[in-house]
Formats: sequence, structure tokens, C-alpha cells
Amino acid sequence: MAEVSVHAIGDVQQNHITDVIRASAEHNLKALEKYVDEYSFPDCKVVDVQDPVTGYTPLHAAIASCKSTVSAHEAVFSDKQDAAASTIRFLLENGAIWNQVDKNDETPGCVAHRLSLPDLYQLMVDAGVRAEMILNRLEEYDRMEDKDEDEDEEQKENEDGTNGENADQDPASTAQPEVNGSAYLSSALSLSDDKLLDDQQNGVMMSWESGIMQKSADALLHEPDLRIINIGFGMGIIDSHIQTHSNRPTTHHIVEAHPDVLQKMKKDGWMDKPGVVVHSGKWQEVLPRLAAEGEMFDAIYFDTFAESYSDFRQFFSEQVLSLLEESGRWSYFNGMGADRQISYDIYQKVVEMDLFEAGFDVEWKDVDLPKLDQEWDGVRRKYWNVDHYRLPVCKFMD
Ligand SMILES: C[S@@+](CC[C@H](N)C(=O)[O-])C[C@H]1O[C@@H](n2cnc3c(N)ncnc32)[C@H](O)[C@@H]1O
Repeated sequence: MAEVSVHAIGDVQQNHITDVIRASAEHNLKALEKYVDEYSFPDCKVVDVQDPVTGYTPLHAAIASCKSTVSAHEAVFSDKQDAAASTIRFLLENGAIWNQVDKNDETPGCVAHRLSLPDLYQLMVDAGVRAEMILNRLEEYDRMEDKDEDEDEEQKENEDGTNGENADQDPASTAQPEVNGSAYLSSALSLSDDKLLDDQQNGVMMSWESGIMQKSADALLHEPDLRIINIGFGMGIIDSHIQTHSNRPTTHHIVEAHPDVLQKMKKDGWMDKPGVVVHSGKWQEVLPRLAAEGEMFDAIYFDTFAESYSDFRQFFSEQVLSLLEESGRWSYFNGMGADRQISYDIYQKVVEMDLFEAGFDVEWKDVDLPKLDQEWDGVRRKYWNVDHYRLPVCKFMD
């Protein structure tokens, strides 16, 4: 008896999923409104159900059904796409998650991108930006709370010698690193001609990025006799471009924290190069010291590994402010979310807003990339999957 009723509930749920997906594909807002009010699922919201065969969510279905209306030469925003846009807005307003993946490992935005539906793609980018901004703010509050808790714990420990519980995990977000910073800094690295890997075969730096590094050095060294600082030596690609640049800088500081990288730098003579000053340690410790000593730079480059977006935000909203000359420029390796186009586009917007809040203007230059294929052999995760690199050049706002 019990078995029959479980079965029956399963069938009902399946029918409800089919209803929701079909109404989304048909852009039937009336039906969707009714289902949102009347249906419920044990594990997710009505707007987040997934078709068991395709993995489509209502957002995927609303976008994918526009396929037939698209012709290669037709730039007109058809009625169907208009209706799809209203459906997408309705689903998002009712809490649909922007980055669920289907069985093809595509988010709804990836589908819009593949089907060349720029307006629908933009709706998904905007949804992603809103979600990531909220997650980043929550992470910040968590960190502030953790800090307060740590201080309370410390005080408590000092008072009675007890140890507190660990704080909650931070929420996951598109641009969060898979590797933990302190684990990375104590892992053994392996360096070959074309890549630097950590002990889990994560790519720390790869030689195909050389063109990006050259263009970044060009953007920063726009005239001779500048003072430049680079944070994160890696394979020394950008530092070598800086050293051989036609606009030679007067001083070239480098900050590096990993002992294996520092050892290799020593072996290769970087500690003794005229005009080069190497600072061993994390930028979080080195940069405040340099600022306290009154060091100033005309150009700053930032490219570290295994750090979170909030570390990066802290870098530009605190350290750059005190180290960069008023007329200076700074740049960073723009690889956040680069494993899929939509995440890359979302993070460009998120960073732009945070840079603006910190008082910076940013200009983007498109850089062509080589075709990447064999490069990933032996690398754990393909961290780059977008066609063009967007090189940021940041300056203080007027
Ligand atoms: C992606 S690589 C830099 C590649 C470099 N741009 C190049 O052209 O070869 C990142 C480097 O940052 C270093 N790093 C990671 N976290 C750091 C930190 N908190 N402070 C300083 N260096 C750090 C890593 O050890 C690694 O050498």
C-alpha cells in the first residue's frame, strides 16, 4: 500500500516537472504563475526543477525553445524572444538560480550564448552579476563576523584557555579558487618548460599566457623610467618582459611567497639583477610594510594563485590606494570565471563595479589568444575556456 502511494507521488511530481518545463518552453506566463502558486517539490523551488532527461531547468527551457526562431542573418528581436525575456524575468523574480547546469554542462546563459541570443544572454549575465555581488557581500559579512568571533575566542582563550569551534564555510561563488592559499604555499611545485604546477597538478602558470603578459607589460610601461612592482613571480614571464622592455623601468620590485619559486628565482640570479628588488613573503604582509616605508610606484601588476575574490578586492581597495602614484596605472591577470564565457562576462561587471566603488576607472583591451588544446595535457583542470582575453588597465578616477 505504502509503495503504491510513494509511486503515485513520484508520478505526480514527474507530471508537475513536465508541466513547469513545458510552460517555460512555451513562455506561458499564466500557467507558470499557477504552478508557482500550486505546486511544491521536496528539494527545490518550482522555478528550479530539472527535467530528468535533459537536465533543463525552466530557464534553460525558456531559452532553448527560441532556437527555431533564430536565423544567422536575422538580428530582429522576434516576438518569441520577447516572450522568452518576460518568462526569464518572471522565473528570476521568483528566485530561479542563474547557474544550474543541464546534462550538457551548460547554464541557461551558456545556451543563450551558443544559440546567439544576445538579449537573453544579457538577462542571464545581469542575473549572475546580482547573485555574485550578493554572495561577495555575504562572504564579507561572514569574514567580519569570523574576525569578531576570532577576537572573542582569543579573548575567551586568554581568559579560560578553551578553544572555539570552526566558523561556517564561505558560500561558493563563480570565481572562488579550488585551492586553498595556505595549502598551496606549503605544497611542492613542479616546473617544466611550459608550465608550473602545484602538487595536485593544478596549473599555477602556463607559457601560453606569455602574450597576455607581454601586452600587460606594454600597457603598464607606457614610458621609460617608471617604478614598477609585480606581485606573483610564477614562471617569471612578466618579469622577464619587464626586464627586456624598450621602456626600461628605473626600479622593478617583485613580491613572491612560495619557497620553491623563491629558490628558483635565486638560482636564476633574480636576487642580484640591477634595479630588481625581491620581497619574499605574502603581499598581505609585504605591501603594508612598503607603504609604511613610503614606497610609491607608477605601475603595479597583480597575478597570484589560490586566493579568493575578497583577497583581490582587499588588494585594490587597500594596498593599491597607498602604493600607486596619482598618475599611475595598474593591472591584474583577468582570469576570474574564465572556465566559461558567462562567468567571465559576469566577473568583468562585478569587478568593474567594485573598482568603481574603490575609486578606479578601468579600460579593457581585447587580446587574441593562441588555440589551446594540448596545453592542458597533465593539468588537472582546464581553467581557461574563453576565446579572448580582456586586459584591464586601471587608473585613479579623475
Ligand atoms: C600565476 S603565478 C604568476 C605568474 C606570473 N605573472 C608570470 O608571468 O609568470 C602566481 C604566483 O603568485 C604567487 N603567490 C600566491 N599567493 C601569493 C601571495 N599571497 N603573495 C605573494 N605571492 C603569491 C605564487 O607562488 C605564484 O608564483
